[in-house]
Amino acid sequence: MPVLQSVSLSELHFRKILAVIGRLLAGIDVRDSFSREISYLRMSVTRRCGFACIYCADRKCRSVPDDELKPSEIFRIAGVLAGAGCHKVRLTGGEPLLRGDIAEICRGIRDLPGVRELALTTSGLYLSGMARELFEAGVSRVNISIDTLDPVKFEMITGKNCLRKVLTGLEAALSSGFEQVKINTVLLRGINDDAASIRALADLADRHSLDLRFIELMPAGAADFPYGEHFTAGSTVLKALPELMEIPEGAGSSGVARMYRREGRPGRIGIISPITGKFCQNCNRIRVLSDGRLRTCLLGGEEFNLRKLSEPEIAEVFRKACALRPKEHGISAGSTGFRIPMQGIGG
Ligand code: 5AD
Repeated sequence: MPVLQSVSLSELHFRKILAVIGRLLAGIDVRDSFSREISYLRMSVTRRCGFACIYCADRKCRSVPDDELKPSEIFRIAGVLAGAGCHKVRLTGGEPLLRGDIAEICRGIRDLPGVRELALTTSGLYLSGMARELFEAGVSRVNISIDTLDPVKFEMITGKNCLRKVLTGLEAALSSGFEQVKINTVLLRGINDDAASIRALADLADRHSLDLRFIELMPAGAADFPYGEHFTAGSTVLKALPELMEIPEGAGSSGVARMYRREGRPGRIGIISPITGKFCQNCNRIRVLSDGRLRTCLLGGEEFNLRKLSEPEIAEVFRKACALRPKEHGISAGSTGFRIPMQGIGG
């Protein structure tokens, strides 16, 4: 039996424990105090990133952090949370593809009992040579962050003259078999919120028949970026593209985004409005940072360190953390006085 031979004893032991925990928790949805079912785990696997985006980069963590979870630690945490109802797992960073063991991590998560969907968010910088391997390792959906199609602005935002490389990564993703490839664009007043920039991205979505989501800027990450000055509401997209028609909720709408399309065009345009249209009432997410901290809310809430815990302890802390999830975040466009470490959370 070649399959069994390649599995070590400790791995078998680990899978048995997960299966037992999974059985104990099966059928019991984990809900928070506001009846939201927690079914979506976003896991940052590194804070490292090849880009230093003006609104995101944490300039203190340029060097390689030595506190990243090892694959076995990732599987232990994700395994318990998947068994407890987090059926969707998304890997984020930093830039997850900077981890040399990312394919191993994907394969391990894909094989965990309870995982039904594995997704990944990337800058796209390293995607062209890795897209196929990631697909084969079990990733079914990929989100690529592209804020502009203007190479000069791209370099201004990310610090790297690499737009072409990212677009090659997008093309590689589109031809690698993924069920879905999406683009994320953070709206930045005075940089990419003019009608021509928005239209160029919408045309790209049409050319490739994909989903493009515009995201309102959240005050996160960079200590020296004037968030209030660069905030622009999601409704700017509707002004730039007055021909957009809303796709009714349920008819292919997607999670936190309000979805639109243009008559006769294949692309879909989403608007994610964490600031002007709080979506907290539908939030089904829990986050684990690259050092093993569980975070109950992207924009605040409490953190719990899962790293040194046993499987039953992780399950227990997960339940407690869910019960403590805040009803909604208290952040507004001009919020000051705090910085969310976005580079370590991954959105
Ligand atoms: N505000 C809004 N969105 C952000 N992202 C990263 N930083 C911010 C921010 N400060 C987005 C990126 C990435 C997604 C996971 O989060 O577009 O694709």
